[in-house]
Amino acid sequence: MPTTQRRMKIGINMVQNGGHNSGWRHPDANAGIANDFKGYAKIIKQAEAQKIDFMFLADGAAVRIPHKDADELSRHGHIDRFEPITLLAAMSAVTESIGLICTASTTYNEPYALARKFASLDHISDGRAGWNVVTGWSEEEAMNFGRDTLMEHSERYERANEFFDVVTGLWNSWDDDAFVRDKDEGRYFRPEGMHLLNHKGKHYQVRGPLNLERSPQGYPVIAQAGGSGPGRELGARIADIIYTGQKDKEIAKEFYADMKARVAAAGRDPAQVMIMPGIMPIIGATEEEAQAKLDELKALVHPEVGLQLISKMFGDLSAYDPDELVPLPLPESNGVKSAIEQWERRLRETPMTIRQVYEEISISSGHNVCCGTVEQIADVMQDWFEDGACDGWNLMAPYMPGGAEDFINLLVPELRRRGLAQSEYEGGTLRARLGLEAKPNPLAGRVSESSESEEAIAVSH
Ligand SMILES: Cc1cc2nc3c(=O)[nH]c(=O)nc-3n(C[C@H](O)[C@H](O)[C@H](O)COP(=O)(O)O)c2cc1C
Repeated sequence: MPTTQRRMKIGINMVQNGGHNSGWRHPDANAGIANDFKGYAKIIKQAEAQKIDFMFLADGAAVRIPHKDADELSRHGHIDRFEPITLLAAMSAVTESIGLICTASTTYNEPYALARKFASLDHISDGRAGWNVVTGWSEEEAMNFGRDTLMEHSERYERANEFFDVVTGLWNSWDDDAFVRDKDEGRYFRPEGMHLLNHKGKHYQVRGPLNLERSPQGYPVIAQAGGSGPGRELGARIADIIYTGQKDKEIAKEFYADMKARVAAAGRDPAQVMIMPGIMPIIGATEEEAQAKLDELKALVHPEVGLQLISKMFGDLSAYDPDELVPLPLPESNGVKSAIEQWERRLRETPMTIRQVYEEISISSGHNVCCGTVEQIADVMQDWFEDGACDGWNLMAPYMPGGAEDFINLLVPELRRRGLAQSEYEGGTLRARLGLEAKPNPLAGRVSESSESEEAIAVSH
């Protein structure tokens, strides 16, 4: 494939034991894969063999399913998961080239600690790390971090903006060549190559420097997925990848155009920011076989599970008959505003029953489910890609490992046959392989005032 041809970027979204909340019940599922590193690694090695750009791990530091008691919760599959940076560090040791991107929240982390973890992952993986910057949406997560409720939307984004600046400031603590480790001279690093941050902002106070050499990518690849106004503004300012949950091509095209315009307005090159919606392919040898697979997956959803899953966005609908239409308007929410707005718009155009909605949400957490033969699904992906709706896709499996193996071994080769997917990894880092510009230290060569500490640094080990 000529390197000049625009190619699809492809990620594999490794949601716990599959994107379908009840996928663990599928007869072929490895129901324990969320705790099975070797099971994960086997899938990722296959993805790497097919030259998939990166694996992506969504995350939240909680069991994020609202529940009144353990009995109610006990029917859900999305309970357990590995801490993602730990998992990706281990994954980097058993892979060579595939990118390793995961979510970390700006609401429940400290910037110094997180800057250090992602820089470490970038070193350990030889420049394959990526950070999906989120502000969090769940009350359950808030309750694990000293709060009774979710922090207000605008405050979350205000903190996220400052948090990101602190993290990138810390990633610029050292010139790329600061660490000379000159044994003869007895000089470990060049003093002018160190840049103290001395950040004192509204939410964070961080002196620096980071206690780690600048990492191979400088800045790990940045992904972002907030779809609200403030979420889009943050993405336009900081992200290399915009991850989104679009289902309708026309809405996706609006989103794509809006994001690219916002990126340009932020003074950045729109071609350097990739819009990558999620998609869950359900593949059959024939259309009928694919539809039967989808029906089988839907039938795995227990009604109690379905109603609970949609309660965050749609309110408590347990008093309604599941075959009634969803009542509108949808309630106000402090959580994933963009998703609620999309649903409201969609249900006004095409009313759906409560059961239809919960089946759809259970299966893919609201992502686009694309059901058909390999050729039909590739047609949809190609059409969106060529028609200004996306720059690539985040592939999501309904259950593991079979759901993922289907698209890795059947769909991706078809995309490659069409000249849409890469046949080799090109470039030394994830950033380079994705065609993103390098991030040399903007402070390099500058002796910044802030390279002097304002106070004596205590020595400890
Ligand atoms: C496709 C998609 C993926 C997301 N992945 C995560 C995630 O892994 N963890 C998380 O806490 N939030 C995740 N979010 C939530 C957003 O990052 C954001 O914090 C949330 O949507 C609230 O912001 P918004 O109102 O701007 O959408 C995701 C959102 C979308 C649309």
